[in-house]
Amino acid sequence: KKTDNQILVIFGASGDLTARKLIPGLFNLYLAKQLPEKFIVLGTSRSDLTDEDFRKRVVYESPYLKEKLGTQENGRAESFANMLFYEDLGGDYDTDYSNLRKRVETLKEEFNTSGNIIYYLSTPPRLYETIAQNLADAGMNTQNNGWKRLIVEKPFGYSLETAKKLNKGLHQYFDESQIYRIDHYLGKETVQNLLVTRFSNSIFEPLWNRNYIKHVEITNAESVGVEKRGGYYDKSGALRDMFQNHLLQIVSLVVMEPPIGDEPEEIRNEKVKALKSLQIMKDHKTLYNNTVRAQYVASEVHGERVKGYREEDGVESDSITETYAAIKFYVNNWRWEGVPFYVRTAKRMPTKVTEVVVHFKSPHHQIFKDSGMNNKDNKLIIRIQPDEGILVKFGVKVPGQGFKVERANLDFYYSSLTQTYVMEAYERLLLDAMQGDATLYARADEVEAAWEFVDPILDYWKNGKDVRMYGYAAGVWGPENADDLIEGNGFWRNPGK
Ligand code: BG6
Repeated sequence: KKTDNQILVIFGASGDLTARKLIPGLFNLYLAKQLPEKFIVLGTSRSDLTDEDFRKRVVYESPYLKEKLGTQENGRAESFANMLFYEDLGGDYDTDYSNLRKRVETLKEEFNTSGNIIYYLSTPPRLYETIAQNLADAGMNTQNNGWKRLIVEKPFGYSLETAKKLNKGLHQYFDESQIYRIDHYLGKETVQNLLVTRFSNSIFEPLWNRNYIKHVEITNAESVGVEKRGGYYDKSGALRDMFQNHLLQIVSLVVMEPPIGDEPEEIRNEKVKALKSLQIMKDHKTLYNNTVRAQYVASEVHGERVKGYREEDGVESDSITETYAAIKFYVNNWRWEGVPFYVRTAKRMPTKVTEVVVHFKSPHHQIFKDSGMNNKDNKLIIRIQPDEGILVKFGVKVPGQGFKVERANLDFYYSSLTQTYVMEAYERLLLDAMQGDATLYARADEVEAAWEFVDPILDYWKNGKDVRMYGYAAGVWGPENADDLIEGNGFWRNPGK
């Protein structure tokens, strides 16, 4: 695909995301010769930095590029760094942007980049609308001399109401087709591969429905705690931080109907439809029975004491913010009627892993009655990270007399495709936005549909009666009570066990 010449303007350029993800992503694109011929980055924020300071911070002295710079790429770091510039906003984000505009114009002339510009908002979300408005006031959103695109980081709102307000606010200054809402999970190869697994394999798609699937389980576990983000996290919690966006994105890809083709809008239309078909939990009984929340408490992990959530910096000592969320729900449509979905996400788990497990129903009639396969269904496990790959569990005959059945694995690892370079999520998504491909970005109605599902749960957890908050020791697979969600005395599959 063609990538037009352009300028990338990053708001919040002195922040962590720029150094940790954006610049390393761009550097990789640069090394892979994927950047357009004429391309520069203009960082901006409230900090008073020079171009040189900025380059030092995000390239030469960046802990995130250290490994790369230590190798033969070193020589190329300088030419990459020379593409980076910085302009102090000279006030808060609500200041007048005419200086910024001038700088953009000067750089545009000097480097002949044409009028195409991406504005990347990597600031606190409360500033998004202000920035969009100021860009508009300075005439920087007009598309009469080159396209303008706006990339926004999550969270997109804090609830359905605030998400709608944010969308409406942005739409005053930018058309929906110009807005790219980033969800880095969509940039992960294995998340995209969900579509290919489903829609290009005749051994899976015919089975992908209520007739053959018993239930679907999705686990997202992180071994880290809230790290240095206690202040942010305590106002957010697992449901907002991970479930509303990343996990519902995965759900939508598992649930959606086949799109007509691979055009961005065709895929996004089907995802919205999928999200809209999630059964919204309205009554107390369902919310009580189908949702579990918990917090990690202090514990010893590999011989070291690990803090409990309420002891973390920035977290209230009586906080009721969840670090673990497990939700059972149904999908109201022809394909999925009656099939339970179990989705959980948590911090301070034994390991870092994300996987989708499709549990198939047992054959209608059991012939091998005393086989080891009884009650052990076929499973398709899609490992999103780490050890990216696909695992199919099926029954085989144990050699010898009789018909004893044992389970065997068909196991595919992405890493066995060694010749292929797998792009990092941000790298991939940045390149897509530069090329104007919004397939892997969330659309306004998609985000709102996800909030519509999540809102009643948040509301119940905040205001409902009899809401329980479990504790779990840091380093275990969450509270045992979460197994009660699973029908038929089932339990969660804890990967690695
Ligand atoms: C972010 C969340 O969106 O995703 C973090 O805010 C979380 O809390 C991170 O740690 C997980 O991303 P990944 O790619 O490491 O699974």
